Amino acid sequence: MSKYIVTSALPYANGKLHIGHVAGAYLPADIFVRYLRLKEEDVIYICGTDEHGAPISIKAEKEGVSPQVIVDRYHQSIKDSFAGLHIDFDNFSGTSRKPHYDLSQQFFTELLENGYITSKITQQFYDEQEARFLPDRYVEGTCPHCGADGARGDQCDTCGKLIDSITLVNPISKVSGSTPVIRDTKQWYLDLPKFTPQLKEWLETKTYWKENVRNFILSWLNEGLIERAITRDINWGVPVPLEEAEGKVLYVWFDAPIGYISSTIEWAQKLGKPELWKEYWLDQNTKLVHFIGKDNIPFHTIMWPSFVMGQNENYIFPHDVPANEYLNLEGDKISTSRNWAIWVDEFIKYFDGEYLRYVLAANAPEKQDNDFLWKDFQNKINTELNNVLGNLANRVFSFSKKHFDGFVEKPTQLNELSLSTLKQVKELTKEIDSCYKEYQVRKAVKTIMDIARLGNRYFDEREPWKVIKTDKEAVQETIYTSCEILRVISVVMTPILPNFMFELRKIMGLTTNAVWTELDASPYPIKLDNIVQIFHKVEDNQIEEQIKLLQENSKANQEAEKASFQDIKAEIEFDDFLKLDIRIAEILTATKVKKTDKLLQITADIGGKEIELIAGLAKAYTPEEIIGKKVVMLLNLKPRQIKGILSQGMILAADDGDTLSILTAHKDVKTGSVIG
Ligand code: MF3
Ligand code: ZN
Repeated sequence: MSKYIVTSALPYANGKLHIGHVAGAYLPADIFVRYLRLKEEDVIYICGTDEHGAPISIKAEKEGVSPQVIVDRYHQSIKDSFAGLHIDFDNFSGTSRKPHYDLSQQFFTELLENGYITSKITQQFYDEQEARFLPDRYVEGTCPHCGADGARGDQCDTCGKLIDSITLVNPISKVSGSTPVIRDTKQWYLDLPKFTPQLKEWLETKTYWKENVRNFILSWLNEGLIERAITRDINWGVPVPLEEAEGKVLYVWFDAPIGYISSTIEWAQKLGKPELWKEYWLDQNTKLVHFIGKDNIPFHTIMWPSFVMGQNENYIFPHDVPANEYLNLEGDKISTSRNWAIWVDEFIKYFDGEYLRYVLAANAPEKQDNDFLWKDFQNKINTELNNVLGNLANRVFSFSKKHFDGFVEKPTQLNELSLSTLKQVKELTKEIDSCYKEYQVRKAVKTIMDIARLGNRYFDEREPWKVIKTDKEAVQETIYTSCEILRVISVVMTPILPNFMFELRKIMGLTTNAVWTELDASPYPIKLDNIVQIFHKVEDNQIEEQIKLLQENSKANQEAEKASFQDIKAEIEFDDFLKLDIRIAEILTATKVKKTDKLLQITADIGGKEIELIAGLAKAYTPEEIIGKKVVMLLNLKPRQIKGILSQGMILAADDGDTLSILTAHKDVKTGSVIG
């Protein structure tokens, strides 16, 4: 038996929980933990809210309350959402608690004393209008790595790379909307280059990590690690434990992962065994498994292990970091700001939380991004849970009730079909075992449903409704074998649908908690009792209601945004304007870019020269509609590689949230005419 610490990325306490979060870092972890419990492993599941960082203080400033108010609100909301989905942590803490502050400061102090932290006077964006420094997330602009807009000062969501905030192109202060200036400030840096050899050596042993995680790390290491600032000039966070650092706090990504340990300490204290956490964190045989979304990979595989390397105490290193890709919604990226999301607290008002577990598990974004579609949700619940698994249980149970008053006995002998069916089931359970072990939840779900399908086929082939007239014993055998199949499912499906499987087991008189070894046991005779239908169908009107709600919410959000006049950007000089090369261009060809629903690949005549570009117009225009149009085009924007094509121009368009319109000339001017 090994010991395990399983963690899920600490969610920021600045918003509600949506299905994208759940699919990435929480449900897969909860399933893994429940699987380990089935296997009777010693496991603790640790989490809590991440309560620092600029978005929280920005939100607090906007609402005119203290950050703690925001934190407490969302801590509770997130906790309730988890409960509604039966995601059960052993401890769910928060990083603004005192023991967490103490431990984070201790981490900093030891790294400093051990020579891994240096200080430097550096340059930082400063908002003159607001008279304050603007750390990372207070600034937005164009990514210096990939050219995407809307990159934050710490990381780009498009290419995933970390950004040194002052390298942002066209920076804008999120506080005032003005263009920030650069000023000197002292910060403390983690000396990542010093850790590089040790990190490399350690990471080389991680050949079993998921491919997406390994690739990410390798490209990071190849680029070479640089020193990273781990302090910030804001007033919400863990104070830097140095006199000369007054008014500065530890960077949120420095203190957050330490929350995994401080939450475990809190857990031990609550149990009245304050030293118990050490049996996990300081035992080198404990397996530490971090479930995260892909944007968190560098922090968990490079930064966090470095913090640990610099400590005096021998804390364990991550054993595995199964990172998931993203979940989209109805073909579009989930977006909190656009309110394009399914919020868990809303979902559980309408449906059983375990239906969401089922569909998110069956669709888990393990190797690639995946889509949540309401229609598909309905389809999976109806045709899989109801028509396959629910149907098997219903027919077997009601048949037994009718002809045997619910008594199921093990026959002394089984015929060939029964034996071979049970043998196949056994084989499938072995597959399911390795699926869970390898975090392949999608495949686990599919294989479990294969068992249920096998059960239905077996029942059909045995035709008990005919045989009952002549051979009652044969029917008892059919029921026994089918119940065995259901019993196996009640064990192996427990990690995915804990409560539904509990209900199923109750009907079958299996009142104990499921354990894997039970697969080889035989509890017969059993008496089926209080037979109820476990699953229920999702009706068309329920789905239509949800789709409508989703659209209305995001529309209401857009309208609210539209209603507020956007401040005019900072003044520019006429010379700045002259730098733009804008001309009339004629669209010659347009085709949809495969596997995207937004992009068109276009060739255009810019007045005697042809160029190629990618434009995000496909939702508003078909290729036919746009071919032949004379449009307004910006030509000297640095060319960008999009979907393998070098995009050499940008078609100007206006978007009010409902309508996206390209700009065309009022009169028929010649292609290539210069605008200015
Ligand atoms: N709050 C971060 C996010 O949502 C995750 C923090 S994980 C931890 O992206 F390791 F730092 F705790
Ligand atoms: Zn980028």
